[in-house]
Amino acid sequence: MKNILSVEKIEKYYGNKGNITKALDNISLKVYEGEFVGIMGPSGSGKTTLLNCISTIDNVTAGKIIINDSDITRLKSKALDKFRQNELGFIFQDFNLLDTLTAYENIALALTIKEEKTSEIDKKVKEVAKYLEIEEILGKYPYQMSGGQKQRVASARAIVTNPSLVLADEPTGALDSKSSRLLLERFESLNKELNATILMVTHDAFTASYAHKILFIKDGKIFTELVRGKDSRKEFFNRIIEVITLIGGDDSNVF
Ligand SMILES: Nc1ncnc2c1ncn2[C@@H]1O[C@H](COP(=O)(O)OP(=O)(O)OP(=O)(O)O)[C@@H](O)[C@H]1O
Ligand SMILES: [Mg+2]
Repeated sequence: MKNILSVEKIEKYYGNKGNITKALDNISLKVYEGEFVGIMGPSGSGKTTLLNCISTIDNVTAGKIIINDSDITRLKSKALDKFRQNELGFIFQDFNLLDTLTAYENIALALTIKEEKTSEIDKKVKEVAKYLEIEEILGKYPYQMSGGQKQRVASARAIVTNPSLVLADEPTGALDSKSSRLLLERFESLNKELNATILMVTHDAFTASYAHKILFIKDGKIFTELVRGKDSRKEFFNRIIEVITLIGGDDSNVF
């Protein structure tokens, strides 16, 4: 299997002398093509920091992050922009859709930036919209959409460029249970049918149970790893709850 992401001994410190937070403390992990990996951990454990370092939004204090054979900790800003456009798809918790653009325009933007042909763009936007069942809302502006619709438009925008790695931070954080289930089923088929590689941060055991493997982070370190194997989603969910109880003690709400 092809290695898509390799995180090697990264450290991330915030603050300065006398007042340092070790947000990430010697983290290493590997993600292979077609994997669907979840990241869980208590609040403040470093999940968002890890995702931000991988997505090149933030930079590491030490260590290497290799995505598709490029060490992104060494790329200069122009090369980094190109890399981001070509290799990564982001899904943010708060959607980050542009309010003055329609769903169609929001999705098309990533392709417009890459200067693709208008006819190509149109074909790709319609294809992904069909896949995520948002064809009817392509002409709507974000304020005219429900939370679940916005999240699906944000997902469409993330995958329309066919990125090597999709990064999602709490993608179901703002959704009700029905919309969450729908989105996760899309993720599942995106992963199965299109062989997309997904790395998803979540504090929610139900959401996490859709992944094939989960890395648990505590105090900036990898605490343990769970692999779904042949378990049903329900069985995997129960195992996830066990680990949450173990990490969080009696107070599983910290997740
Ligand atoms: N820009 C920053 N400056 C200083 N400290 C920060 C910064 N960003 C994060 N931290 C600290 O780093 C640690 C990890 O934060 P992070 O946001 O990665 O946690 P998280 O696991 O995503 O938590 P949550 O589940 O609450 O979203 C925390 O102690 C946090 O206070
Ligand atoms: Mg976070």
